[in-house]
Amino acid sequence: MALSRRKFVSTVGIGAGAALTSNIWARGRENSVWSAFEPSLEAVERGVICIASNENPVGPGKAVLDSLRKLLEGGAKPGRYSNQADQLTEAIAGHFKVKTENVLLGEGSTQILRSATQIFTSKTKALVGTIPTYEECAGYAELIGHPVKGVSLTPDFKIDIDRMVAAAKGAGLVFYCNPNNPTATYVGAKATREFFQKMASTSPETTILVDEAYFDYVTDPDHETHVPVALQNPRVIVARTFSKAYGMAGLRQGYAIGHPETIKKLREWEQASGVSTLNVFGMAAATVAIGQDATFTANERKRNTAVRDFTAKWFADRGMKPTDGQANFMFVNIGTPARAFRDACRAKGVMVARDFPPFEKTHARISLGTMEEMQKAVTVFGDVLGKKSTAAA
Ligand SMILES: Cc1ncc(COP(=O)(O)O)c(C=O)c1O
Repeated sequence: MALSRRKFVSTVGIGAGAALTSNIWARGRENSVWSAFEPSLEAVERGVICIASNENPVGPGKAVLDSLRKLLEGGAKPGRYSNQADQLTEAIAGHFKVKTENVLLGEGSTQILRSATQIFTSKTKALVGTIPTYEECAGYAELIGHPVKGVSLTPDFKIDIDRMVAAAKGAGLVFYCNPNNPTATYVGAKATREFFQKMASTSPETTILVDEAYFDYVTDPDHETHVPVALQNPRVIVARTFSKAYGMAGLRQGYAIGHPETIKKLREWEQASGVSTLNVFGMAAATVAIGQDATFTANERKRNTAVRDFTAKWFADRGMKPTDGQANFMFVNIGTPARAFRDACRAKGVMVARDFPPFEKTHARISLGTMEEMQKAVTVFGDVLGKKSTAAA
């Protein structure tokens, strides 16, 4: 199945944003992919619950906010072409116990996804990814005229490893989004390692981009990062972001970790194309964020899991079982077109995500807000879907 860019464009929903509180740092562009065709990201009116863009609704921790305040109070730095890339690269390398040559910064992981697509696909070497998945790589490949091959998911909405291996033969790049956006499903570490092995024998020239954007939200026990594989194998790259569990989507910081040879290729492209990663606020904040101890992400995972369990149960109790979600959003068979659901929710003050073909006639993606927001949101969902809500009674 081929993906068309027009299709991506037609799937874009309403713009997303946040009230002007400290939470603005947590709000990004996810729901406004290809925003040139849609209203751009803007602050949502007060009182509107925005659960459309897979963000951390709480925002960054105190240490990060304090570092931003200090930077603003310092005055001079934002006025300079100040560069904190080395400090951030070292902080990331220290966190993963790798060398700085294994790390490449990006303006969000979006930049990493685009650079990898640019470097590893061509007119004759396709991009391969699931349908649906996060659209950045496919959209960019189509923009530069490189072919895109879409692979259907398994019946339980997971990456179909065997189909992926078959489709990827001779491909330039596989986009392996795990957990996958929008389905929130996750393929365990063991099956993923087997996938790498199969790829090495059937298509050794193909690069695999493992997108671990939602890594910190996974609770499946068969869970581990594929950074160690990427360090050894020049054909595997891991993309990470500060936009999700770290609550910094608006600060636009992401990175790749990989083999020095692979990182070098990506770095050369970024330097040659003049892509800047030098946002002083984002880099300062990310340096502090990655230096926090692991309790920050553990607490965020715990908070999100409680909200996820509550929301999943609400849907399941009403006969609308979500997929086995392992992220800060869920994909639910609401049995009715997403657009009508979205419009009706919006009229009642709740913003949910855009359409995700080929499931737009039945499924909605619901990002998870705070518990309080979700208790209010399910009341709206109950009204819109004609399912009585008990949650917020
Ligand atoms: C799977 C996935 N990868 C990458 C991104 C891009 O994130 P950012 O550019 O904010 O790091 C997103 C955004 O929602 C995503 O869902």
